[in-house]
Amino acid sequence: MPIVHLNGKNLPAEEACVPVLDRGFIFGDGVYEVIPVFGGRPFRLSEHLQRLENSLDEVRIPNPHSRAQWAALIQDLIDANGGGDQSLYLQVTRGQAPRDHALPENPAPTVFAMSNPLKPPADEILEQGIKAITLDDIRWTRCHIKATSLLPNILLRQTALDAGAAEAILIRDGYATEGAASNLFVVLDGQLTTPPKGPRLLPGITRDVILELAAAHGIPHREADVRREDLAAADEIWVTSSTKEILPVTTLDDAAVGNGKPGPVFKKMYALYQANKAALRAG
Ligand code: PDD
Repeated sequence: MPIVHLNGKNLPAEEACVPVLDRGFIFGDGVYEVIPVFGGRPFRLSEHLQRLENSLDEVRIPNPHSRAQWAALIQDLIDANGGGDQSLYLQVTRGQAPRDHALPENPAPTVFAMSNPLKPPADEILEQGIKAITLDDIRWTRCHIKATSLLPNILLRQTALDAGAAEAILIRDGYATEGAASNLFVVLDGQLTTPPKGPRLLPGITRDVILELAAAHGIPHREADVRREDLAAADEIWVTSSTKEILPVTTLDDAAVGNGKPGPVFKKMYALYQANKAALRAG
């Protein structure tokens, strides 16, 4: 039975209960993080905590913990679940209050965290790549906030799955923004390209790692708008996230991307990413 954290205590998942009037349950009124853990250590912890703080500020939920308290809580939970590699999920809701759209005056946020298995994509997927489809981005206009209210993302991902694809690449006003639960990279005109940060997409931590690795290893790269038609012209398309790492998209809307196989820039970046992980595990 996995151990979870709820409001200051670690306990078995089946014993953790949240009141029905919690605004997370009633309104989806909360924010979250997913932090990968390698060798018992959280990856890019300060960046994840910074993004959590930004999300909390944006939705006006008071941050219930200091950085040091967050770090201790997270490490305790990692240890309680046996260390190693994990995917640590963390959420803060505005807490319990009578149902009212107006914000409660003195909210007592609910803090919940759990550990899930972190399974890197299978070799077969990395060798063949995945299928994706483009869909209109039906989300709100503040996608830089990592909000728990994910109904549009869930429906978009499911529409992709129903079409036999693994991810949806979202289009807003003619521009590709990101995936339903991932960021987007394309290799276009010899440059690794990802849409710039802003309210249309989540500022992914994996995205930042990839841009840093590209800079450190001389891979030409840029943050620039990606038009819908650029996707069809791209030599490579990837989607990235903390849990899926880097996945090459080899079929988009039933057409091959490039030669239909994971490309050379992907292979190089995948190796760099794995080396980075191994360095973290080695301390
Ligand atoms: N989601 N964009 C969206 C919409 C996401 O949901 C995610 C990750 C990302 C990638 O961010 P990062 O590299 O920091 O994981 C981009 C997580 C994994 C999830 O919802 O489970």
